[in-house]
Amino acid sequence: MASQTNGTIAILTGGGDCPGLNAVIRAVVRRAEQLGYSVLGIKNGWLGLVKGLAEPLDLPSVSGILPRGGTILGTSRTNPLKAEEDKKKVFENMKSLKIDYLVAVGGDDTLGVARALAADGLKVVGVPKTIDNDILGTDQTFGFDTAVQIVTEAIDRLHTTAESHQRVMVVEVMGRHTGWIATIGGLAGGADCILIPERPLTIEEICAILKRRHQRGRLFSIVVVAEGFKLAGSDELMVKDQKLDAFGHVQLGGIGDKVAQGIERLTGYETRVTVLGHVQRGGTPTAYDRVLGTRYGVKAVDLIHQGRTGMMVRLEGNRITEIPLSKAMTELKYVDEEWIKTAEIFYG
Ligand code: F6P
Repeated sequence: MASQTNGTIAILTGGGDCPGLNAVIRAVVRRAEQLGYSVLGIKNGWLGLVKGLAEPLDLPSVSGILPRGGTILGTSRTNPLKAEEDKKKVFENMKSLKIDYLVAVGGDDTLGVARALAADGLKVVGVPKTIDNDILGTDQTFGFDTAVQIVTEAIDRLHTTAESHQRVMVVEVMGRHTGWIATIGGLAGGADCILIPERPLTIEEICAILKRRHQRGRLFSIVVVAEGFKLAGSDELMVKDQKLDAFGHVQLGGIGDKVAQGIERLTGYETRVTVLGHVQRGGTPTAYDRVLGTRYGVKAVDLIHQGRTGMMVRLEGNRITEIPLSKAMTELKYVDEEWIKTAEIFYG
């Protein structure tokens, strides 16, 4: 083991948890030890830096965590940019905890904060995480593959009961702004209609797809709907709770019920709704997410070692590369036309 002379790297995990976070933490600690850095784990995302909550991480503390879901560091949706006082505390705590570099693991909100603080001088590298897979700067975020696997398994199970009862099964999946989980999970599960924020449809169009399927003798159907889907012509986002979190997001939920009611009303087909919810984010990561998280963690430390902070690690094809945080976080990555057209081939 190298002696710890190169400084201290802190790591935090922010936003919604997702499978693969522990793979990143383990990889950061392993690579940092090798290159001669100490590592501090910040508790509960940006909140930990505002409050100065940290614990040393070493090889024993990350042993055995690779297959575990969630994050051993905890997470929160705290936004330290909301109050000038909190932002000041982040810099003060970086100093008092003797942190030289930070690895921020998160989605658009957490990395948006990282980008802003990098512009103010924080030496930070970002690691893109979200089951939603909607970060523009990378071909894939870790956690997404696991979520898709869970959705696929759920659709497989729903197929058998849908067929037995000749019902329509509406499956509501996560995807606040984009329909990646619905599209790829729906394709893998053989969904008969996939509803995503990028492609609003009217309830009549949805029912026409299902009727077409009935006409060719298939008396059951699977409809996958992303939680952020809106019916065409309606501006109504279905929400469970109007309360805003620190990043201005409401809690979504209910579009599955709305679509199901519309289907029953217009077709008379018996319809049931399954909301997969946080099951999509829980439990052990797939092999793919463990490896992607591991590669991201190693690369984040390598960038720090090369003095290249202000970057986000990313997947580009099959290679792990980097992109400036300022370019990676300009907008969301939406499901493009090519994916939508492929999915539509299998509708009805
Ligand atoms: O951003 C990831 C995500 O899982 C979204 O798909 C979902 O809308 C949201 O988080 C749920 O957030 P929470 O865990 O706070 O309910």
